[in-house]
This record gives sequence, structure tokens and C-alpha cells, in this order.
Amino acid sequence: MEITRLKKIAVFASGRGSNFLAVLEQVKSGNIAAEIACVISDHARAPVFEIAQRNNIPTHWVNRKQFSAAEDYATFLMNLLESYKTELVLLAGYLKLVPSPVVERYRYAIINIHPALLPNFGGKGFYGIRVHQAVIESGVKITGVTIHFVDEHYDRGSVIIQEQVFVLPGDTPEELAARVLTVEHQLLPKVVKAYCEDRIKIVDRKVIWEK
Ligand code: GRF
Repeated sequence: MEITRLKKIAVFASGRGSNFLAVLEQVKSGNIAAEIACVISDHARAPVFEIAQRNNIPTHWVNRKQFSAAEDYATFLMNLLESYKTELVLLAGYLKLVPSPVVERYRYAIINIHPALLPNFGGKGFYGIRVHQAVIESGVKITGVTIHFVDEHYDRGSVIIQEQVFVLPGDTPEELAARVLTVEHQLLPKVVKAYCEDRIKIVDRKVIWEK
């Protein structure tokens, strides 16, 4: 029997954790060759912690406000990730900027999911329902999902995959968010699976998918 080495994933999430759950289910079924090493949140009572705890995954509450110096915060996060021998950092609804020393250390090993087609409707302040409100207000007819590598800026970095979702006449932000979320739950496990199988390559800062 072939023994596949499991990649160690650290998940950062601020809230509900439905994207984390979508990935976790495929890890548990063996479809994704990974181990969820830990879940880190900036919120002490984030619902995502309950999902992790139910599945015996270590959780850590880490917030910039717990540290007086920014570099201590970055060092703490770095040591935490190192302690789990992290190979992939997954931002699954994480609202904070990852400190630049962490981005530097895990270049092309941090993935974020965004509920719109970047570079539109992204950046600071574009999170949660606000993204879908802005999309509807703008009058665009197509939105979607972007999964990308993380760099030092909000919602930038090389795009790994995008998929479109139509904005329908009369959509409320909540209705649109729900349709986008369904696509997120399909795309994120697909990307994580490909990453764990070393099928995502970077050439000249652009992402190439290998078969
Ligand atoms: C998702 O829409 C994701 O794209 C965005 O934050 C939301 C998180 O939802 N970054 P959940 O916590 O995964 O349910």
C-alpha cells in the first residue's frame, strides 16, 4: 500500500469556519493528504474553535493586542507555526493581516479565500457581507470566488483559482453570499488537495496547475 506523507496545515480563522469544515471533511475522508495541525483565531470565542475541538484539533487564541511590540507578535506566531512543523497556512475567513515576517517565511505557502473576483471588491474593509453589499451596489453582473497566495497586502498575491457566480436581479447581499459560499466550499478543498499533492507551481509569480 502506498503511504502518502501528510502535509501539516495550520488554519487561521476569525469566525464561523464553514470553509475550514469543508476542508476538514475531505482531510478526514482521506481525499486530501493533510493533517490539520492547529486552528488559530484572533477571537477567543470564535465558533471555528468548536469545530476544531470536536475534532481534537489544538486551538490557539492569538491576537496582536496580547503583545506590546509588533515583532513579539510576529515571533510568537512564527514559533507557533514552527512548533507544528507547518507546511501550509490556510486563511479561512481570517480578518487580520498576517505579519510580514510570517509572510516572508511562508512565501507561497499561505492561501486565502476571498468571496469576490479580485482585484475587485477586495482590500482593507472588504470582508463578510460588506463585499456582497458593494458588489450589488456597483451593479456588476458577475462576482465569484478568488483563492490566492498571500503577500504583505490585503487580498493581493498570486491568484490560484477564480470561479464566477452570477449576480441575479433582486439579489440581497445575504442571498448572493449564500450562493458564493457554496462555490467557496467546492473550490477551497480542491485547491488544498492540489497544493498537498504538489500540483501548484509558481512561475514568474504566476500560478500553474499541474495535472
Ligand atoms: C468566506 O466568505 C471567505 O471567503 C471570507 O470569509 C468568509 C468566511 O466564512 N474570507 P467561514 O468562516 O469559512 O464560514
